[in-house]
Amino acid sequence: MSIALAQRPRPVADPHHFDVARIRADFPILAETIHGKPLVYLDNAATTHKPRAVIDAISEVYQRHYSNVHRGVHTLSQRSTDLFEGAREKVRGFINAAKAREIVFVRGTTEAINLVAQTYGRANIGAGDEILITAMEHHSNIVPWQMLCAQTGATLQVVPIDRRGELDMEAFERLLNDRTRLVSVVHMSNALGTVNPIETIIDRAHRRGIPVMVDGAQSAPHMPIDVHALDCDFFAFSGHKLYGPSGIGVLYGKEALLKAMPPYQGGGDMIRQVTFDKTEYNELPYKFEAGTPAIADAIALGTAIDYLQEIGMTAVAEHEHRLLSYATERAMHIPGLTVIGTAHDKGAILSFTLERVHPHDVGTLLDQLGIAIRAGHHCAMPVMDFFGVPATVRASFALYNTAQEVDALMDGIQQVIEVFA
Ligand code: ALA
Repeated sequence: MSIALAQRPRPVADPHHFDVARIRADFPILAETIHGKPLVYLDNAATTHKPRAVIDAISEVYQRHYSNVHRGVHTLSQRSTDLFEGAREKVRGFINAAKAREIVFVRGTTEAINLVAQTYGRANIGAGDEILITAMEHHSNIVPWQMLCAQTGATLQVVPIDRRGELDMEAFERLLNDRTRLVSVVHMSNALGTVNPIETIIDRAHRRGIPVMVDGAQSAPHMPIDVHALDCDFFAFSGHKLYGPSGIGVLYGKEALLKAMPPYQGGGDMIRQVTFDKTEYNELPYKFEAGTPAIADAIALGTAIDYLQEIGMTAVAEHEHRLLSYATERAMHIPGLTVIGTAHDKGAILSFTLERVHPHDVGTLLDQLGIAIRAGHHCAMPVMDFFGVPATVRASFALYNTAQEVDALMDGIQQVIEVFA
């Protein structure tokens, strides 16, 4: 790489001490006050805040290196291209993909799933075929497949969940059959926190020769990801949930599959040769990257990955698990509070309902205390239907959250209960 962004202070990793105070100092927005109270940001499953390194990277790209990529012979274009391709290489390393050409930059997880549905899906799935998803999917892993089914005559099959919010793995095995053409499954549920046994799911599907797409929007920011070890066929995640910019995300796909797939959108950069008779498509991954990409955002996603790798994803996962255990234990002692999603293997998401108080009222009152949570169906309406609730309150933790913030949340909930008593 001939060009790199300016070096900036990085978080100091210490395997024996997760220095959350130091990490917090890297995130300018955490110093904000909301309604005169210190911000307690617990809506990280919706989107995460950005460390100064990421904010500065975007600014530096625009101030010093910005131009279009893959198109110019001039210096700035070459710098942008080097930085952009350097970011792709960082993503490759982050998820341990074999090759950078298996990393396609997209807008986010939603676009990645739509891309697979409309390319792999349109080419390989037809009338009478089945696509297998689960009952805990985000709408972005339901609707693209419904659209594909409407276009092709395929049908959508759904693996049920139980009251803990865990997949019924016997039903999963029963639902896999000779008509199943693709399994698309969420790694970690945004509504429940459940971490699914995707190793087993991938193994069982592969025994039948069925490819597996993993929605990693919630898992990639919270645990180490190794697509090589998982052997998944597609893996998608979003930059904005990973302390990076919005508008940039990643589709990983095995090279052989991506190569055989038709392109998604047509336009500049995805072609090698165009005449009015015929167009020859570009090589991977550019075949799937029509038009000018989110250049500065991709580069800054690389910076977010540097930042996370400095801390270590295992350390991040351990810190968040400590927070979740503490929050769950405290929540159990609040009368009238029901935790929705009690899977054995969970990421740092605490979804709950409060007796006699609508989640939106909880959210509004907590906001008055400076506490940001999400209240709603979390883009997973079938999960809400299953649990028989219109919505939940969801606190979702990130690497910069603290036990004191869990205390603030629990004290806030007590205040909400008193207001409605
Ligand atoms: N999918 C994001 C969430 O769970 C927006 O809040």
